[in-house]
Amino acid sequence: MSTATLPPGPKGVFLPGPLYRFTHDPLQFIARTAREYGDAARFRFIKFPVYFFNRPDLIEEVLITQGAKFIKSADLREGGSVLGNGLLTSEGEFWRRQRRLARPAFHRERVMAYAPVITGYAEEMLETWRSGETREIRAEMMRLTLKIAAKTLFGADLRPETVEVIGESLAAAIRQYDARVKTGFLLKAKWSTPGNVRARKAVQRLDGILYEIIDHRRKARKETDDLLSMLLEARDENGDGMNGKQLRDEVMTLLLAGHETTASALTWTFYLLAQNPDVEKELLRELGDVLHGRMPIYEDLPNLRFTDAVVRESLRLYPPAWAMGRQCAEDCVIGGYDVPRSTTIYMSQWVVHHDARYFEQPERFRPSRWSEEFQKKMPKFAYFPFGGGPRVCIGASFAMMEATLLLAAIVPRFRLALAPGQRVKLWPSITLRPKPGIQFLLTRR
Ligand code: HEM
Repeated sequence: MSTATLPPGPKGVFLPGPLYRFTHDPLQFIARTAREYGDAARFRFIKFPVYFFNRPDLIEEVLITQGAKFIKSADLREGGSVLGNGLLTSEGEFWRRQRRLARPAFHRERVMAYAPVITGYAEEMLETWRSGETREIRAEMMRLTLKIAAKTLFGADLRPETVEVIGESLAAAIRQYDARVKTGFLLKAKWSTPGNVRARKAVQRLDGILYEIIDHRRKARKETDDLLSMLLEARDENGDGMNGKQLRDEVMTLLLAGHETTASALTWTFYLLAQNPDVEKELLRELGDVLHGRMPIYEDLPNLRFTDAVVRESLRLYPPAWAMGRQCAEDCVIGGYDVPRSTTIYMSQWVVHHDARYFEQPERFRPSRWSEEFQKKMPKFAYFPFGGGPRVCIGASFAMMEATLLLAAIVPRFRLALAPGQRVKLWPSITLRPKPGIQFLLTRR
């Protein structure tokens, strides 16, 4: 007989309150849940059982040890209305094949070759910046990381007007996704509400651009070995390639997953640096010592230890992926808790990264905490900005390199001070964003 128990949770069978609070103020809800119930909590969202796991070993069980018993949660699957059936949303044998095909584009040697593209676009952006002007940095970072992702992964040089259309269309699609989250996805994507119609048009505009990129590459038949070429050339055991829709879904997934997260990470890093002058000073010292005023290159990375720690610490405090969900495909027991089939389990980077059991003075921005000794002692899933297990972020090394190089390129050239009079609010959308953005005053160093 099983001795497993259910996690603690509020009494009452049918409570619409928790779902409402979760969808309307998720960060507050999950932080409060952890405070009230501890490492594991159980709710019912309408009729669906939902658990929150807030302890590294429980998270490891879900993502790795018993990972085969889980699929992505319904909210992630709903992302399919924009992403289609790409790497982030697909499951099973199809996902395994796609992951195998995409993997070589993220190997070390390949990622190394992306470094000059990254710093080249950074230089181009910096040439447009003027001392004394104020800029909204999240929009700047979104444009920059979008161009980098399009060029490195798909060989596409995006024109400025295309970058604007992609930015606006993604924003419209995400706004509608957020609106649907607020209804607990009772509002279906297929219904023709005004919001859904606007989102569909936005996705159509995006599709137009993506199919153009794909067609251009197909016709060019260049001897390139970027990710798009690999996807175009991939054949399964029957000799069949991917059809247009499959290609579109992968390109859309990588373009979205590959730029929005890194742009959020950089924005929060500038926000933290602006409020922590001691850290900024230390960072400038390292960059001066290593780079002596030149642009960073890939080979500098091993010497940019503090810069790397700044990115790591920023990903801890403001994790772009602030929570991850999984749905249990069969009954199981995790950490002594019964998990019935179909239960959704949320694991939140936001909660665990701010837990004083794993991070001393968790609210402080202290990159110096990331010593080798600290990292060795830290429980595996106390820090998981890129997820973990077989579905770990495929672009993690790329993202770390990109963020480190971009910081090293920007910080020695411009001081970014917070423009006065703003109230920066957290906006936990698809990624954790600042609302409405963050205005910085630029001063050339
Ligand atoms: C700071 C930047 C980034 C963060 C914080 C981040 C975070 C994550 C997380 C947490 C997951 C796992 C989601 C889950 O298991 O449910 C994930 C998956 C993924 N990420 Fe990232 N990511 C970042 C950058 C990138 C970049 C640069 C790319 C591509 C160029 C990328 C592509 C992907 C893809 C394709 C997946 C799905 C992988 C799969 O399921 O096989 N990400 N990311």
